[in-house]
Amino acid sequence: MSEQAGFALEQFRLDGKVAIVTGAGGRGNSIGRAYALGLANAGAAVVVADLNGEGAQRVADEIIAAGGKAIGVQVDITRPESVAAMVAATTQAFGGVDILVNNAALMAELGSLQAASIPIADWNRIFNVNLTGALICTQAVVPEMRKRGGGKIVNQTSGGAYPAQSVYGISKLALVGLTTTLARQLGREKINVNAIAPGNTTSDAGRQLTPDDSPFIKFLEASVAMRVRGAPDELVGSLLLLCSPAGDWITGQVLHVDGGWVLRP
Ligand SMILES: NC(=O)c1ccc[n+]([C@@H]2O[C@H](COP(=O)([O-])OP(=O)(O)OC[C@H]3O[C@@H](n4cnc5c(N)ncnc54)[C@H](O)[C@@H]3O)[C@@H](O)[C@H]2O)c1
Repeated sequence: MSEQAGFALEQFRLDGKVAIVTGAGGRGNSIGRAYALGLANAGAAVVVADLNGEGAQRVADEIIAAGGKAIGVQVDITRPESVAAMVAATTQAFGGVDILVNNAALMAELGSLQAASIPIADWNRIFNVNLTGALICTQAVVPEMRKRGGGKIVNQTSGGAYPAQSVYGISKLALVGLTTTLARQLGREKINVNAIAPGNTTSDAGRQLTPDDSPFIKFLEASVAMRVRGAPDELVGSLLLLCSPAGDWITGQVLHVDGGWVLRP
């Protein structure tokens, strides 16, 4: 963007862009679904990718029914060959890749595993999905982004990365490390790499992990500045900022969307 261009709301539009959202085909009310619908609303063609192929197709059909462009793809982000097939399906359908949202993760199913006693096989499984999966997807899309002269990558971390209370949180803190390192290494190629750290979100998985009457919600109610729970749709504006030309000069950042839970100087 030139210094003389001025600002226009159209800078948030994504017409002609192609976006992959992983973990977007899960349970009914998921953050990935909100992300996929939001990107499509802004004009992007969206690849809805999930381990759950049927769910991915369902969300893609929702986008198409609303007049948008989408395909559903079954993918296991821990398997490079499966991710390569997802990227091939994307380029075949839409001609390239501009945006990757690394949203797939293991969360609600993890419960409260203790770092001091977690079986190493479980530790490896969590890191394989929550950290290595994001890296595998990134490695697969970067060559495609280079062909387009740049791109945007958004990693879905969590406010839970900072209170340091769970193995899940450790995996999300590691994802912040991956975000900042990739941002430094890819910046000159006009590939922005940022992260969103949601607070307690009312997705089906979020409600399963921390029901309203859980001790963790009570703990948060005593400290969160504004409001503990947010809806998946309340994350979408931040995603659009980080995926659109409006965010061209933002890289290596963690955007906390959590009503004032994690307050860092
Ligand atoms: N809900 C919350 O309160 C909250 C808060 C902070 C961060 N997050 C993060 O937001 C993201 C979405 O959360 P959600 O609440 O919508 O949960 P969700 O369980 O509905 O979404 C996760 C999706 O990832 C998919 N997935 C898991 N393993 C996969 C694999 N190997 N390959 C491809 N897909 C795979 C699942 O099928 C599922 O659809 C996650 O990264 C989560 O850690 C959620």
